Amino acid sequence: MNPETVQQEGLAAVAAAPDTAALEQVRIALLGRRAPLVQALRELGTLPPEERGPRGKVLNEVRQALEAALDARESELRAAELEQRLRDDRVDVTLPGKRVERGHAHLIEQTGREILDVLIGLGYRIADGPEIDSTYRNFDALNTAVTHPSRQPSDTYYIDDHTVLRTHTSPMQIRTMMSEPPPVYMATMGRCYRRDTPDATHTAMFTQIEGLAVDEGLSLANLKGTLLAFAREMFGPDREVRLRPHFFPFTEPSVEVDVSCFNCARDGSPCRVCKGEGWVEILGAGMVDPNVFGHVGYDAERWTGYAWGMGVERIAGLRHAVPDIRWLWENDLRLMEQFG
Ligand code: DAH
Repeated sequence: MNPETVQQEGLAAVAAAPDTAALEQVRIALLGRRAPLVQALRELGTLPPEERGPRGKVLNEVRQALEAALDARESELRAAELEQRLRDDRVDVTLPGKRVERGHAHLIEQTGREILDVLIGLGYRIADGPEIDSTYRNFDALNTAVTHPSRQPSDTYYIDDHTVLRTHTSPMQIRTMMSEPPPVYMATMGRCYRRDTPDATHTAMFTQIEGLAVDEGLSLANLKGTLLAFAREMFGPDREVRLRPHFFPFTEPSVEVDVSCFNCARDGSPCRVCKGEGWVEILGAGMVDPNVFGHVGYDAERWTGYAWGMGVERIAGLRHAVPDIRWLWENDLRLMEQFG
């Protein structure tokens, strides 16, 4: 082992190491346990005593030189590598950002909130109730006879004999009146379920808004005035409403309510909203049947009331000329995004 050669070649290898990992290998080769220099140092003890001093001095000088070179090169390489990393990680603040799409409420939700806003403006309090309710609140307390066709399992989803997926929001009338005394001005929105075959105007799940007013001296005139105010808010200031006699078990008299067409001149020419009729049906309503008051313990001699129920999908579909309410549940973004 020639110390001079070891030093020369060692310094050259240190200078040539391209990065800290390579330098580590050089360090092991020059100063590791198996390195010739280290072995030579270890074997010093086997030399004759007079050779040990001079030989040891030379070998230690070589080792110090190599160590110093390794340390110097290491700090040099570390600095360079840090520099490189900083350069690679640099953020270009001038790059355009990623566009984040903003969502919005679904058209059914938007329309429902708008309707409730109008009713809040008219003094109605908003209540919320369960989609699963008893046959008593969904039917019996609403004066719906046991023989009424809507109670058939072919029309209504039964959970068990006494429990259904509510077929309308009207059981909320019962819940409200059973929990508070009159006067009542309440509106509610929620999902309802019927075993209907889906078509352009029916879906098995749909959204209703119900209104209920109970007070002293309320008459059909108050109902009509309320619905006229509502129709003008929702469909335009020039609208009229028309009441047609109808039947619901829970109201007497009962009416179907039309609004004058907001889409055409109402001169009988073809119109995709009113089909040339000039009127569009928007909801069902009536004066609360005294039998219903009997079920909730209200004095029917003192209090009268009116109620109505309407399909939110129908109102939304009419206003935006969506020809098939099933489209509102398909959630095709090409349709939904038009209502952002
Ligand atoms: N519950 C009726 C339906 O689902 C709608 C309705 C009609 C609600 C008249 C009422 C009402 O409160 O008075 O078809």
